Amino acid sequence: MEGNGGTVCVTGGTGFIASWLIMRLLEHGYSVRTTVRPDPDGKRDTSFLKNLPGASERLQILTADLSDPESFSPAIEGCVGVFHVATPVDFEDREPEPVVTKRSIDGALGILRACLNSKTVKRVVYTSSAAAIQYNNSGADILDEDSWSNVESIREMTRIGASYAISKTLTEKAVLEFGEQHGLEVVTVVPTFVHGPFICPKFAGSVRISLALVLGNAIREKISYDKYK
Ligand SMILES: NC(=O)c1ccc[n+]([C@@H]2O[C@H](COP(=O)([O-])OP(=O)(O)OC[C@H]3O[C@@H](n4cnc5c(N)ncnc54)[C@H](OP(=O)(O)O)[C@@H]3O)[C@@H](O)[C@H]2O)c1
Repeated sequence: MEGNGGTVCVTGGTGFIASWLIMRLLEHGYSVRTTVRPDPDGKRDTSFLKNLPGASERLQILTADLSDPESFSPAIEGCVGVFHVATPVDFEDREPEPVVTKRSIDGALGILRACLNSKTVKRVVYTSSAAAIQYNNSGADILDEDSWSNVESIREMTRIGASYAISKTLTEKAVLEFGEQHGLEVVTVVPTFVHGPFICPKFAGSVRISLALVLGNAIREKISYDKYK
């Protein structure tokens, strides 16, 4: 049964923000298709999504990975809107920055191409990050749509979380450019820190860092925001 608002896609349903979004969309009467990464061993627990109110009638869980940009097409086909939320949130730079950035851009553009091909998607909402605007040494009190992080400076300073900040900056630019070029409505949202209760089983990285700032534990030393200055 299709919900009143039509069908929307949310990428990265296992994540902190995406799982809240799915819950709210179901509450508001939408049908939701969400993507999770392929799980060949069947170890991933998605019961917290399947048990959400309305999920048994209006939630579908499909697999897709940003490393395979075409993989999102089945989840997007027939949708009226897409929320692209999935991204590896890695402040510890476990992978080389070019790998992270390429996957993020290729994945996002694959999603946008699927939106165009669908002929049904009216709007795409891309979840960017304050990391895409805040590292610019401008000294400005107000940062707006014209403010962008300076990727070369982030690279030179090899700061912690550089791959995340660079990939978020370049991906937001790429999705906005694609939208303009192809006449697709792309909206970006730029959260700072999102924290609070979580409905997914994993301990969200941003909540962990927020708590570390309060409790002063080891993570604070490892991922200290003083190091970004
Ligand atoms: N939380 C914040 O404070 C904050 C602030 C600014 C911006 N954001 C942005 O908000 C979005 C969600 O953040 P979050 O805090 O909810 O993070 P999260 O809980 O870590 O969720 C990230 C999601 O992305 C998925 N993912 C990771 N690598 C992927 C890949 N290669 N292909 C497909 N999916 C992949 C993860 O799947 P697995 O579960 O399989 O790992 C997970 O579902 C991100 O785009 C982030 O940049 C968050």
